Amino acid sequence: MKTIQEQKDNSLNYGKIISVRGSVVDIWFENNLPSIYTLLHSGKDKQIAVEVLTQLDDNTVRGISLNPTQGLARGMEVETDGKELTVPVGKEILGRMFDVFGNTIDHLPPLPEIERRNVHQKPPPLSARSVKSDIFETGIKAIDVLVPLERGGKAGLFGGAGVGKTVLLTEMIHNTVAQNKGISMFCGIGERCREGNELYNAMKKADLLKNMVMIFGQMNETPGARFRVGHVALTMAEYFRDDEHRDVLILIDNIFRFIQAGMEVSGLMGQMPSRLGYQPTMGTELSKLEERIANTNAGAITSIQAVYVPADDLTDPAAVHAFSHLSASIVLSRKKASEGLYPSIDMLQSNSKMATPGIIGEAHYNLAQKIRHTLAKYEDLKDIIAMLGMEQLSVEDRNVVNRARRLERFLTQPFFATEQFSGMKGKEVSLKDALDGCRRILSDEFKDLPESAFYMIGSVDEAREKVNTKTDTSNSKDTSKEDKNTSEAKPKDSTKENTDAAQNKTKDDNNNDQNKLKDAPKENSDEDQTKSKEITKVNTGTDQDKSNDTAKDNNNANQTKSKEITKVNGDADKNKSKASEDKKETVDT
Ligand SMILES: Nc1ncnc2c1ncn2[C@@H]1O[C@H](COP(=O)(O)OP(=O)(O)OP(=O)(O)O)[C@@H](O)[C@H]1O
Ligand SMILES: [Mg+2]
Repeated sequence: MKTIQEQKDNSLNYGKIISVRGSVVDIWFENNLPSIYTLLHSGKDKQIAVEVLTQLDDNTVRGISLNPTQGLARGMEVETDGKELTVPVGKEILGRMFDVFGNTIDHLPPLPEIERRNVHQKPPPLSARSVKSDIFETGIKAIDVLVPLERGGKAGLFGGAGVGKTVLLTEMIHNTVAQNKGISMFCGIGERCREGNELYNAMKKADLLKNMVMIFGQMNETPGARFRVGHVALTMAEYFRDDEHRDVLILIDNIFRFIQAGMEVSGLMGQMPSRLGYQPTMGTELSKLEERIANTNAGAITSIQAVYVPADDLTDPAAVHAFSHLSASIVLSRKKASEGLYPSIDMLQSNSKMATPGIIGEAHYNLAQKIRHTLAKYEDLKDIIAMLGMEQLSVEDRNVVNRARRLERFLTQPFFATEQFSGMKGKEVSLKDALDGCRRILSDEFKDLPESAFYMIGSVDEAREKVNTKTDTSNSKDTSKEDKNTSEAKPKDSTKENTDAAQNKTKDDNNNDQNKLKDAPKENSDEDQTKSKEITKVNTGTDQDKSNDTAKDNNNANQTKSKEITKVNGDADKNKSKASEDKKETVDT
């Protein structure tokens, strides 16, 4: 005989569809109106799940469908067991890939019968939270030095379309998942299915799946599914934290799509939109999700979330709300991406609550502040440089610019995630090496090296190696270069090198040349810069006193003069600069 509880569990309640509008379904129940968040099933094979979101009157509820509503019709029967959305939890889910219903989607044998848990859970109470602050190293220089992440904290990668959020997130997965002793989870919300697939295969290949769980509600799915998939991931994460006492690293791409799905749901439900068309309940919805990402004495949930920033506008309500939940915000800038300075982190806009002397240590803190000051000063000087050129800067300012440009390049890094299309081998750099590099650059140890030497390297010592190998290869190619007229555009040289190399069809050569091609435009500008620097050096050698003497009032007149001169001289300047280089050499010797 069945117990009362079992009878209760199996008792079904039936209703009838009275309207279907897109994903929104209204259902009539004669009695026992289902409560909010109850899952209802309808359709021919009861394959369509609808979650109750509002109760319209004594007999009618309105819900949002988690599947496409194709095939639903008015009058169709709806059944419910009164339960909310549940997903499987347990050790068995490791290495598997799930959808919003907790169904496996990796074409492997189905899961055994295991515990299922409601996806709507409360965040842990304040008294249960732990407040330990530890650093979470990522092996990415710019992040570890300037925006250290918190173990058990929430970090956000903010950026507009195509500035490298997914690539950076993938790189972090690569660098951290292998060392992460706990569980890693990836939750794809409203992004490309292809990316999910690629990540799954990459993880499988690297044999990292065994400690990983993946959950996807990608852009092809209904707003209801995208709205709930984050909760699914957190429910699974909470199981590992609370029941198995393990640390969990959860990566989300992209939390903005969660907000966007909420906006769609809210619109479909007929709620009045709020600012910029967002749902009036955005703040509540986001905190319901974000607050569950918390550390307790049982374990920690560390999360790294990509946040799409609509129209690159960081004051967008979605971005602003997301900011307020995070302990570290990494802002990616389109300008940096367009200059090829990847990862395109805007060091001045990014910040981390960990970056305080008490947590990262006095020395690291001071160094990070110094880097920020240098970069900020360079940012201020950029306008002057653009209008008047480097020559008009004081010697001190010029030094700041040189340091800042070297730092900017040193903080780029070749990624494992981009090996295939950049042709450069990925590099992971320890915090110690990264700090050491920044310190040495700031103390002008590498003044003699061109800026390009710092571009896409790992630790700072590679800069010298890069210069040495470059001079070696350029020496071997010198014979062909020397006949060329120097006034010829340099990019031509690089294309020529390329065609030369194309004849030697070995793979290595091709790779090298790809790098060169990438470096070429930069090198040119760098070389030009160093040339102009040299001119100014030579000049300052003789004119420094003079220029110091000239009153500041005269500056404007001088500037316009020098501008005119540079205009008139045009190409001739190049030859001059060559000559001055020679001059400088003789002076040096
Ligand atoms: N570290 C990097 N090195 C080289 N190229 C990069 C790097 N990061 C990003 N890119 C380039 O930028 C492109 C877009 O990157 P990504 O897909 O990560 O952007 P996204 O911010 O996730 O965009 P979306 O908002 O569309 O999802 C990449 O395909 C790649 O060409
Ligand atoms: Mg992306």
